[in-house]
Amino acid sequence: MRLLRNGERIHLADKKGRQYALTLKAGETFQYSGETIAHDDLIGKLDGSLVTLSRGTRMVALLPTLGDYVVKMPRGAQVIYPKDLAMITIWADVYPGARVFEAGTGSGALTMALLRAVGERGAVVSYEARDDFAATAMKNIERYLGPVPTLLLRKKDVYDGIDDADGPFDRLVLDLPEPWRVVPHAARALRPGGVYLSYVPTIPQTMQTVEALERAAVFGLIQTFETLLRTWNIQGRSVRPDHRMVAHSGFMTVARKVEPGLWGSRGPGTEPSVDGEATPEAGEVGDSSENEGEET
Ligand SMILES: C[S@@+](CC[C@H](N)C(=O)[O-])C[C@H]1O[C@@H](n2cnc3c(N)ncnc32)[C@H](O)[C@@H]1O
Repeated sequence: MRLLRNGERIHLADKKGRQYALTLKAGETFQYSGETIAHDDLIGKLDGSLVTLSRGTRMVALLPTLGDYVVKMPRGAQVIYPKDLAMITIWADVYPGARVFEAGTGSGALTMALLRAVGERGAVVSYEARDDFAATAMKNIERYLGPVPTLLLRKKDVYDGIDDADGPFDRLVLDLPEPWRVVPHAARALRPGGVYLSYVPTIPQTMQTVEALERAAVFGLIQTFETLLRTWNIQGRSVRPDHRMVAHSGFMTVARKVEPGLWGSRGPGTEPSVDGEATPEAGEVGDSSENEGEET
């Protein structure tokens, strides 16, 4: 059983599912729309408890999930949202025990997802160019995860290179404006078979990144995609998609570090045809024919 503790970040959720973040401090009061509740009335309650504010409004007190925490935590830089954090950890194949390189740290949302995925035996080395962002990120990370001996957060410009002493890495993940400038360093720092993933908001950035990966010659199976998450309203007979959604966040580009020579750097099934479109082949990612896929 998990009780809410003094000093801990918690969320209060209202009937509509809206969440309000607060850090529990004995003796303090939480204010909401002219109502109040003493932190002392929350400390010691079970995670998920129903609580009542001064004028009768009821809310649920919760320890936030990582996804809920990152959207409410203090920010320096824009964070990566949960739908993309989920995609990044699987598509970059971040596994328990992996050594992962990250840049830039920003507010620490992706860093936390990576730390959880690598677990106690893994390691995350994260470069951040700005001192103030690095400090905010460290506070955010430790407030949620506690002390993190598996993280090395360095104030460093990754465009200048990745220190040999920090590597080699199994996985490398970038969320910064010019990932193509990191690709030559990634080619050195990743181990053979390692996974590269970068996340950018625009297609011109994506194009420059893919071109840099192709130029580097040691990357294959290069893929770019975005994720669209559409939530639904399920209430009685009103069963329909919600009217609003986040239509755009970012494009992910993923590649494997491979020995050159088998493919053009794009990988199987993506050689341009006469009209310039890539020709899909059986087994290509996205093909619904799973059995054929196993043979390729
Ligand atoms: C969009 S934010 C990253 C947000 C982060 N992924 C998160 O989820 O909280 C981009 C970060 O990259 C950092 N940055 C930009 N150029 C950099 C560089 N050359 N080296 C290291 N960090 C850099 C910025 O200072 C900023 O904090």
